Amino acid sequence: MLLKRIAVALLVGLPACTQGALPAATPPAATPPALAPHAAAQPAASAAAAPATADAGSPSPPEHSHVCGSAHHRFKNAAKWAKIFDDPSRDEWQKPAAVIQALALSPDARVVDIGAGTGYFTVRLARAVPRGKVVAVDIEPTLLQYIDHRAQKEHLGNVSTALGNAKSPNVKGPIDLALVVDTYHHIEDRPAYFHGVLHELSPHGRVVIVDFRMGKLPVGPPEKYRIPPEQTTREMKQAGYKKCGSYDKLPYQYVLEFGLRCQAG
Ligand SMILES: C[S@@+](CC[C@H](N)C(=O)[O-])C[C@H]1O[C@@H](n2cnc3c(N)ncnc32)[C@H](O)[C@@H]1O
Repeated sequence: MLLKRIAVALLVGLPACTQGALPAATPPAATPPALAPHAAAQPAASAAAAPATADAGSPSPPEHSHVCGSAHHRFKNAAKWAKIFDDPSRDEWQKPAAVIQALALSPDARVVDIGAGTGYFTVRLARAVPRGKVVAVDIEPTLLQYIDHRAQKEHLGNVSTALGNAKSPNVKGPIDLALVVDTYHHIEDRPAYFHGVLHELSPHGRVVIVDFRMGKLPVGPPEKYRIPPEQTTREMKQAGYKKCGSYDKLPYQYVLEFGLRCQAG
């Protein structure tokens, strides 16, 4: 029941809108990706058991509607969403520690958490980069206020927030990592959006996208609303990226890493 609430709240959205093809960027020098190149075996993660079953095919809660073309994302009630996004039971399948370990962040990395929600990943990232910084981006000002307060309460001086919009996260680089968790499907013209992000990446910068796999899953939105990993890869290539790596140890989600240039890309 709880898992179902979390799944529905996190993930339901409408399908992708119009996609725009963009030219590939000229790649500068880059350092190797931290994730396994092209789905090769990846160390680091624990593959714990999947959680109890739940069907995420329920209607969206009232605040979470998404109208293709007009981007009506509603996540205004921060206290309500915090109970859902930050419910400890989510850790069982989201495995944030394993994800962050696989990211192999340098302690001084500059990270952007795109679609940060109530800061589930933001605060964990902030602890992983004690000499770096994390910018939490969302389109809901109330969530950003919540994160500001949360960071203060948790003594995380390296967290700041930025109000994004449908077209851009509104963050200036250099960005070493842009993490996009359960948010990719909320972005409308994804190639254009991430083409913009690409210009803010540091030479070794990367975008890592975590989203739900296709097929029958006990969590996640109905399949028709998910973006298959192949489509994500195609869109990111349209945006000018190369696929640099992947991480295959989450029970329900794929994790894909993209950059301007990668060691095995
Ligand atoms: C399902 S929540 C995921 C929150 C967080 N990443 C997590 O894993 O807990 C999706 C978030 O993306 C935000 N969002 C939707 N469209 C966005 C956009 N174009 N840019 C930035 N954030 C967006 C929503 O407001 C919401 O907070």
